[in-house]
Amino acid sequence: MSALFETRCLDPHRPEDFELALRLLRQGALVAVPTETVYGLAADASNPEAVSRIFEAKGRPSNHPLIVHLADAQHMDAWARDIPEIAWRLAARFWPGPITLLLHKADAVSPVVTGGLDTIGLRVPAHPVMQRILSAFRGGLAAPSANRYQQLSPTAVWQVLKGLSGRIDAIVDGGPCSVGVESTIVDLTGPIPRIVRAGPITRAQLQDALHMPVEFPEEHDVAVPGNVAMHYRPKTPLHLFETETLRMRLRAKENDAPIIVIEHSNVLSGHDRGVVRSIQMPADKTEYARCLYDALHTADAGRASAIWMEMPPLCEDWRDVHDRLGRAASAESTPPDDAGA
Ligand code: TXA
Ligand code: MG
Repeated sequence: MSALFETRCLDPHRPEDFELALRLLRQGALVAVPTETVYGLAADASNPEAVSRIFEAKGRPSNHPLIVHLADAQHMDAWARDIPEIAWRLAARFWPGPITLLLHKADAVSPVVTGGLDTIGLRVPAHPVMQRILSAFRGGLAAPSANRYQQLSPTAVWQVLKGLSGRIDAIVDGGPCSVGVESTIVDLTGPIPRIVRAGPITRAQLQDALHMPVEFPEEHDVAVPGNVAMHYRPKTPLHLFETETLRMRLRAKENDAPIIVIEHSNVLSGHDRGVVRSIQMPADKTEYARCLYDALHTADAGRASAIWMEMPPLCEDWRDVHDRLGRAASAESTPPDDAGA
């Protein structure tokens, strides 16, 4: 689909822009909004027509459920039924913040929002601009990440526009996202809470809040259509290497095929062939997560034939980063020797 209309860039600190964003949302338009995790593509969750436009703009299959964003936990009752006590406890502890709770949906919620499922994902985001929008809007905003289907999530305005300019009505500029990785999703519809998407809130934090075990399967079989292996993917092939392997591959590279290196251990020698750019990642997990999508978007815009990336540490609290990288990496993650990949 070619560009259909102009996507307006709105400054939330200008009252007329803020009002316009609200008016557009009330009219059923699509507005990209900042959250602390990633930018979301928002529409009025109580307007099925508006919600269906989200799927069109993203090119996302209509059976992939959306998260509904609320101003605060008190609104949960309007969107979910049979809410267990642990949901209120998690809400009190982590909202506003980067965690989504899966609950049984209230009867009034349109199946367009939940992709036909009987459950609903709810989240109260912490970004101050999104908080202001939600409080003024007085309803729920359905919002997936503001990227085209199966592409990288955006953590800055330029990244949203790269994928959705001309396909959405407006974007509210809230600056770069402070967390940088999508929310942890916890399924609370079964007997034991279960993490179905790794995120910034870890299992240890959840168990500490609930005083009970929380399941975190490596792979889960919940029929979550959005949970596909190939996801969050840059257009340039991304290859992941352990530190020493990356060092060796760089030294052994015998051609000038342009590559971009993303690393955190100073793996470059200064004489490595074909390295057109290197992006240095922070060692700290929180900082690393904040920069992750930005690094991938920047590398992807660099017109190299491949991205070679150093694998981050294999620790439990890095699981969200590994999850996203696993989905972003090319199917055969190690390039063939000398393919210049
Ligand atoms: O941090 C986030 O969660 C961001 C910001 C914008 O809030 N949102 C986000 O939405 O990542 P999205 O749609 O890109 O990813 C949400 C995931 C999808 O994989 C979807 O399938 C799953 O959550 N999901 C949503 N509702 C669900 C439900 N009722 N049951 C199972 N999975 C659900
Ligand atoms: Mg997404």
